Amino acid sequence: MKAELGSRALFPDLEVRAYLNHAAISPPSLPARRAAQAVLDDYARRGAHAFRRFLDQRERLRGKLALLLGARAEDIAFVPNTTRGVTDVALCIPWRRGERILCIEGEFPANVTPWQRAADLFGLELAFLPQPTAAGLEAWLAGLVTELAARPARLLATSAVQFQTGLRMPIDRMGAVCAAAGAELFVDAIQACGVVPIDVTGVSYLTCGGHKWLMGPEGAGLLYVAPERAAALEPNVAGWLGHEDALSFLFEGPGRLRYDRPIRRRAALVEGGAYNSVGYAALEAALDPLLELGVETIHRHVNGYLDVLEAELCALGFSSARARAATARSGILSVRPPPGVDVIALHRAIDPARVACTTPDGWLRFAPHWPNATHEIGDVVAAVRDALQVTKRPTTG
Ligand SMILES: Cc1ncc(COP(=O)(O)O)c(C=O)c1O
Repeated sequence: MKAELGSRALFPDLEVRAYLNHAAISPPSLPARRAAQAVLDDYARRGAHAFRRFLDQRERLRGKLALLLGARAEDIAFVPNTTRGVTDVALCIPWRRGERILCIEGEFPANVTPWQRAADLFGLELAFLPQPTAAGLEAWLAGLVTELAARPARLLATSAVQFQTGLRMPIDRMGAVCAAAGAELFVDAIQACGVVPIDVTGVSYLTCGGHKWLMGPEGAGLLYVAPERAAALEPNVAGWLGHEDALSFLFEGPGRLRYDRPIRRRAALVEGGAYNSVGYAALEAALDPLLELGVETIHRHVNGYLDVLEAELCALGFSSARARAATARSGILSVRPPPGVDVIALHRAIDPARVACTTPDGWLRFAPHWPNATHEIGDVVAAVRDALQVTKRPTTG
């Protein structure tokens, strides 16, 4: 069965009427579930003999992920999640004491904690840029230029899409600003890959967990490292699979067990040990529809949905954080409820209507993907309108 925009046919067990939580965790499609099951079934039948097959599967997946990012397959590594991609880079950059890292206020902690740890470990300075807003994006970019000119930084860490407001960051322009200032650009792309077109030109490092817009399971993600950056990384997180020719001692006879094989000088130096075969098989099956439909097409589809939903919610008195400029839009619509309405109480009241959304950092966040159809929107708006009535009701006694 082929994936079709606006069709939930591949998600027959989804219980809610509108699933708008793809910015949190995506439900797996039938092909993803079958692919995961097939790995377990093969190991159940053949045990270790199944290993080779899934090694090949991952190399195929590496190529598909590269296609998604406009990268080369050899510049992609497998990491369990976004955080681990950040940590691996933070621990492997050959830092010099006193260098500066720039983080951004309002970022998801996955793109802050590992930099804080690296700062403690390597004696670095960590500073925060203010949180960008859709309306103030140009001024924010100008501020970045000024900041880098006044106080050089080794690295800027940003999300491709801000998790709470859905603001799509101008990654290409930020890459150019960083390059001009001699800084590296690290991108947490988990709120972008799969729904927002991404091109790694000008990006030094990019990481992405698989369980949101890529629609894979948790525990199967990716790390992109630009080739010139990979060559400079210290292999501080390398494990036995990080060496060149790491497997020959297992399959090619005696005399091959050595500990001095060079560590790979590419992204895959971070691939330390046994992989999540089940997760990566499911991720590949989830990725195929994204590549077939095309991320540009998915972005248009999702934004068509959000155009309607945003207008309806604004008519109910919500205020929207969604950018006016199409280039700054993602797959996320975040709104603030009308004055006097508590967002947590509102969310609790929406839930029984079987409309799935979330409340990150106090925003009410809606995140549809390719299977969502505009005919759901009536139900979503009715659920929110009813929930507003309940939460606005004056308390007595
Ligand atoms: C911007 C962003 N980064 C990272 C994460 C999660 O990181 P990880 O894949 O390590 O769980 C999230 C959400 O869970 C997020 O919204």
